[in-house]
Amino acid sequence: MEKSKVTVPQLRSLKAKKKIVMVTAYDHPQAASADRAGVDVVLVGDSLGNVILGRESTLPVTMEDMLHHVKAVRRGVESALLMADMPYLSYHISVPETVRNAGRFVQEAGAEAVKVEGGKKRIPAIRAILDAEIPVMGHLGLTPQSIHTLGRYKVQGRAEGQEERLVEDALALEEAGVFAIVLECIPAAVAAHITRSVAVPTIGIGAGPECDGQVLVFHDLLGWSQGPKHTFVRAYADLSGEIHRALTGFKDDVEQERFPSAGEWFE
Ligand code: KIV
Repeated sequence: MEKSKVTVPQLRSLKAKKKIVMVTAYDHPQAASADRAGVDVVLVGDSLGNVILGRESTLPVTMEDMLHHVKAVRRGVESALLMADMPYLSYHISVPETVRNAGRFVQEAGAEAVKVEGGKKRIPAIRAILDAEIPVMGHLGLTPQSIHTLGRYKVQGRAEGQEERLVEDALALEEAGVFAIVLECIPAAVAAHITRSVAVPTIGIGAGPECDGQVLVFHDLLGWSQGPKHTFVRAYADLSGEIHRALTGFKDDVEQERFPSAGEWFE
């Protein structure tokens, strides 16, 4: 059955009714595959930096990098909500710059919402984007753009007082008007506490089963990642293995003169 177009109001209303499914995508075939599978949200994450561009972190990812990939993903997505991640420095400098950058995702690349990392201190930026009629998703917990202040990628919310601060941040984001909040690498009980505290859906990654939805990185869930596998990732395929088998098969066939064979060239 064809899936109807997913909208922001619809997603908001899914809280506690149906789990929301979100996946990242970075190019046209990935986007088309995710959309065909019927996911609710396709996120062009700034994980682009690590996953596609071979960077150590998300920090070097620029607006131009993101726009290039959001445009490609736009051409593959029909039903899912298309969301663009605001990259590092695109919402940190000034309110006008923030609105301009969020607006570029909508106007030039066809995004329908943007995602912003951080809690209370990002409220002015979030309010300004919302004032420009662009829906915003929040992102709390392990926020990879804060890697240098966090020290390393680690679970957030275990230290004294952190749970309360996360709940306060989530409530502030909700009050500002975000339509959903990503919770990344937070103990399940803390994520459940946040999920119960806000009326907007939470979407977890490494945040346990009680979030209102789950998100995974495209390459992680397909077993196509280059780095070590995180414990919170479930790989539903082994694309790295398949790709290796295919490429070494091609190499062997060419070297052993088994490719091309009759029927695989023009007479
Ligand atoms: O950039 C990204 O892929 C993300 C998801 C992990 C939520 O922010």
